[in-house]
Amino acid sequence: MRFSIFLLFGLFSITNGYNFLVYCPLFGHSHSKFFGTIADALTDAGHNVTFFTPTIVEKYRNISYTKSTKDVVHMEPSDKLKAYGEQMESGDFVRFWTEDSTSTEILPVIEIFQNMYNEQAEVMKLNLGVLDDLKKRNFDVIIFESYVFSAYPLMDYLDITTFIPSLSVTHDVALSQAIGEPAMPSVVSDVLSPFGEKLNILERALNLIAVPVFDLMIGYPVHRSFKPPHDVIDIRALEPEASFVFINSNPFVDFPRATLTKTVEIGGISVDLEELRSQKFDETWSEILNLRQKTMLVSFGSVMFSKDMPLENKKALASTMAKFPEVTFIWKYESNDPDSFAKGIQNIHFVKWVPQTALLADSRLSAFFTHAGLGSINEVSYLGKPAILCPLFADQMRNAKMLSRHNGSIEFSKYDLSDTSKIADAFQKILFDSSYSKHAEKLAEQLENQPIKPKELMVKYAEFAARFGRLPSLDPYSRKMSFIEYFLIDVAAIVIFVLISVILLLKKLLCVVCSLKKKKID
Ligand SMILES: *[C@@H]1O[C@H](CO)[C@@H](O)[C@H](O)[C@H]1NC(C)=O
Ligand SMILES: *[C@@H]1O[C@H](CO)[C@@H](O)[C@H](O)[C@H]1NC(C)=O
Ligand SMILES: *[C@@H]1O[C@H](CO)[C@@H](O)[C@H](O)[C@H]1NC(C)=O
Repeated sequence: MRFSIFLLFGLFSITNGYNFLVYCPLFGHSHSKFFGTIADALTDAGHNVTFFTPTIVEKYRNISYTKSTKDVVHMEPSDKLKAYGEQMESGDFVRFWTEDSTSTEILPVIEIFQNMYNEQAEVMKLNLGVLDDLKKRNFDVIIFESYVFSAYPLMDYLDITTFIPSLSVTHDVALSQAIGEPAMPSVVSDVLSPFGEKLNILERALNLIAVPVFDLMIGYPVHRSFKPPHDVIDIRALEPEASFVFINSNPFVDFPRATLTKTVEIGGISVDLEELRSQKFDETWSEILNLRQKTMLVSFGSVMFSKDMPLENKKALASTMAKFPEVTFIWKYESNDPDSFAKGIQNIHFVKWVPQTALLADSRLSAFFTHAGLGSINEVSYLGKPAILCPLFADQMRNAKMLSRHNGSIEFSKYDLSDTSKIADAFQKILFDSSYSKHAEKLAEQLENQPIKPKELMVKYAEFAARFGRLPSLDPYSRKMSFIEYFLIDVAAIVIFVLISVILLLKKLLCVVCSLKKKKID
């Protein structure tokens, strides 16, 4: 019996196997995790997957982002590329504890990213031997981060026609517009805008100009084919030919908005519930969780460190924690100096590293105080924990609004981190008002019972693309319409013209009738 199932499975994978290339330059941890998950899901479905992962930031080089995908191809960076990686890594993030993260300062960061990807293309051009080797694998489909445009010359060199640009974040208005997806700036903000779905007039105006300004100032980079005569690749014209786009947004968590059939929402694909629930931590963690009736985990992630927050905030947090003696606080704190502001406070455990997902999966953990990075957002959503969301920069403001909408969490401004009464209020609510945990659990239940699981959805759409290639039938004509046509301005003009004409005509008629009557009376 077992043998025949094995045989069937074997047959299945031979007849249905496709060759996928997942292109994932190493520049960010969560980005690589997302693409590693995609690669593994396709491998597990019986396909031949190559994970091409050129190094940009050295410290990610030795991390295995894939498990079941064994065909992993690396490429060493040039000195220039390494320098870009270091420049990005050494970014001055500390200031975001006290400063706004607005679009204007994101602009130079995006510029560094683009230069980095351009240099990545140069590195590939100097290593055509590696690409020639890749070409032998005859890929059916390439999957890559949509804004890593060096994928286009790679795709061109390897003669891959079918491609799936994907996003490791929730939403990118520029990508939406490129494929002809309705992206009304009045409705939902871009991933880097902090607004959410309820926008006032100023926010709508900012939302309206953000994308055109970005496009004007940065736009698409110029990439040339690696093959002679090295023609320019028209990425703007090519991008809408994508068979699908995969985005890291979950329809049951994210703001509802108009999308296309082409947009496949696979948010939560990186969360493996079974694995999370089966995690074990050592006895000391269990002892900490048993200390008091309630326990809260406090962590601001791996980019922004607690140790760098203003001393005033540390003091406010610690003194507020001291006012909740029946609660244990596990605080991820990356340095040895907590004594300076938390002397004598018994119920805080400072640790440099936490087994975050294992703790979140434990029923003894009551709540999570987090920076609202997308990874943590997905984890608390799936594991159903109430959370205080304190976004610091980049997409975190949007993430916090996205999750707090579900009433299982509280949005908390980083500018209130020195306000003990506001902190105490948030602690009191999230720990003792059971409506938060109820709503958080309800969302988790919905996610566990999604009609189609993100992994399955991704695999089916990727297979469809591999089988049918580009899908012009999914390309909306509206993409080619002019502004005037799309917004019915021509129709509105005619209607207004007719209305005005009728009114003028009626007025004239009235005047004639009036003057006739007058004549009669006279
Ligand atoms: C997948 O890889 C195996 C082993 O390298 C190879 O035998 C097979 O032909 C590949 N499948 C396709 C569809 O190329
Ligand atoms: C990665 O591993 C190799 C050998 O295993 C080692 O030589 C290298 O220093 C490591 N690189 C980093 C950045 O840790
Ligand atoms: C959250 O609470 C608001 C206000 O009470 C309510 O209108 C909304 O429907 C709730 N949302 C969910 C997902 O329960």
